[in-house]
Amino acid sequence: MSKDLNSPFRTKTVEQSIRDTEEPEHALRKSLSAWDLTVFGVGVIIGTGIFVLTGIAARNNAGPATALAFVAAGIVCALAALCYAEFASTVPVAGSAYTFSYASIGELPAWIIGWDLVLEFALGTAVVAVGWSGYVRHLMDTNLGWTLPTSLSGPDAGGHFDLLAFLLVLVLTWILVVGTKLSARITAVVVAIKVTVVLLVIIAGLFFIKADNYSPFIPPAQPQAEGVSGWHSPLVQLLFGYEPTNFGVMGIFTAASLIFFAFIGFDVVATAAEETKNPQRDMPRGILGSLLVCTVLYVAVTLVVTGMQKYSEMSPTAPLAEAFKSVNQPFFSGAISLGASVGLITVCMILLLGQTRVFFAMSRDGLLPRVFSVTHPKYRTPYRATMLLGGIIAVVAGFTSLETLAELVNIGTLFAFVVVALGVIILRKSRPDLHRAFRTPWVPFVPIVSIAASFWLMLNLPAETWLRFGIWMAIGIIVYFSYGYRNSRLHKVGQEAEF
Ligand code: ALA
Repeated sequence: MSKDLNSPFRTKTVEQSIRDTEEPEHALRKSLSAWDLTVFGVGVIIGTGIFVLTGIAARNNAGPATALAFVAAGIVCALAALCYAEFASTVPVAGSAYTFSYASIGELPAWIIGWDLVLEFALGTAVVAVGWSGYVRHLMDTNLGWTLPTSLSGPDAGGHFDLLAFLLVLVLTWILVVGTKLSARITAVVVAIKVTVVLLVIIAGLFFIKADNYSPFIPPAQPQAEGVSGWHSPLVQLLFGYEPTNFGVMGIFTAASLIFFAFIGFDVVATAAEETKNPQRDMPRGILGSLLVCTVLYVAVTLVVTGMQKYSEMSPTAPLAEAFKSVNQPFFSGAISLGASVGLITVCMILLLGQTRVFFAMSRDGLLPRVFSVTHPKYRTPYRATMLLGGIIAVVAGFTSLETLAELVNIGTLFAFVVVALGVIILRKSRPDLHRAFRTPWVPFVPIVSIAASFWLMLNLPAETWLRFGIWMAIGIIVYFSYGYRNSRLHKVGQEAEF
């Protein structure tokens, strides 16, 4: 942290961050309430994680104990949420962890976090679009008898280009350009459908649970299959010289680091701070409320589906629908597939929204070309950033497969959690005077435990994910020193002061 405006650790003051949002041509409309935020949160949190990754984690890593993995990941997120809530209620401007870090640790760390969030949201949007496309194809195939040519079904289905995922991202981009309020309304309807489907799984599924399926609840550790490269093993197992294994107690943490994706989204609520009517009061409620609802639902869903079907037989693509098929309930199975297809749309849209808002904030600060932060004269949305990013993400979604991307998204998000928790500690010391509508309890204890917990999940991700993440971040540092450092608004202010 530095007051020297030529230093890469220069900070923007909190007051400056808030003032920036009041410039008319760079202002977003303040229209969201606590209820909108909670709907937003639940809308983005429940998605591919619970609908798809639960099956993969139960089958490959933790069996019925995947429910414990959800508890572990939920605790990591709750700790981070306590830190996010303080920051979001103190610095209520667009950009989430990026803005928070700029006001506390400095410009370079803020840039790093912004670059990291671009990875989280852009790839997250692509992952969910691809997952959605799979469900829609499944529905069309089994219920309508329409089969898309393999070449247009995407790499996961043995094709080349995922037409449906590509089109979904383009349509959502258009909706976001037209205005947040419209998309919030659509979101509310879709969230209702999605929550109904999840409740349907829990309530209807209860009647088909067989106690046998829970035994063993924590399957014993097994060595990894022959020929699996060390790069695919969790980093923690390589670092500490374990024989890489699946299942067992370590398997619960491997599962937690994967299904963590299911919780991504509560941090997106924080990105909408600037568009919230009363952020000081509504932000903490929106963040913590949506996280709590989702954790309870996830644990219940996982206990039900692993009780309905033996974990080793669970489907890696549509586990919730398949669990009902396995007990001869085709009606429920079809309804779940339909609800999932509809529900994943909002997830995709809100991740895309979070993405454009981070990009917008970085551009407003001059770290990315300023042209992207001009808002539309009529819709008041950052339309240029939205269109550019929407186009790029549509292409990524069209050509990439889902699995590796999800792990990369997770490492990026966990890294952001670490920085935010660090930021809370720093800002308490550097700006004790600031009004904090929500205060993280027991600082610095809670932020320190949050940092340790997030880092632990990061260590449970594969070594190759760490490598990819390192490469992405190295590119970010190069971009900062070749563009952002010189074009930053803070740098320009510093230079003017010198002359
Ligand atoms: N949490 C969101 C999902 O599970 C991103 O799809």
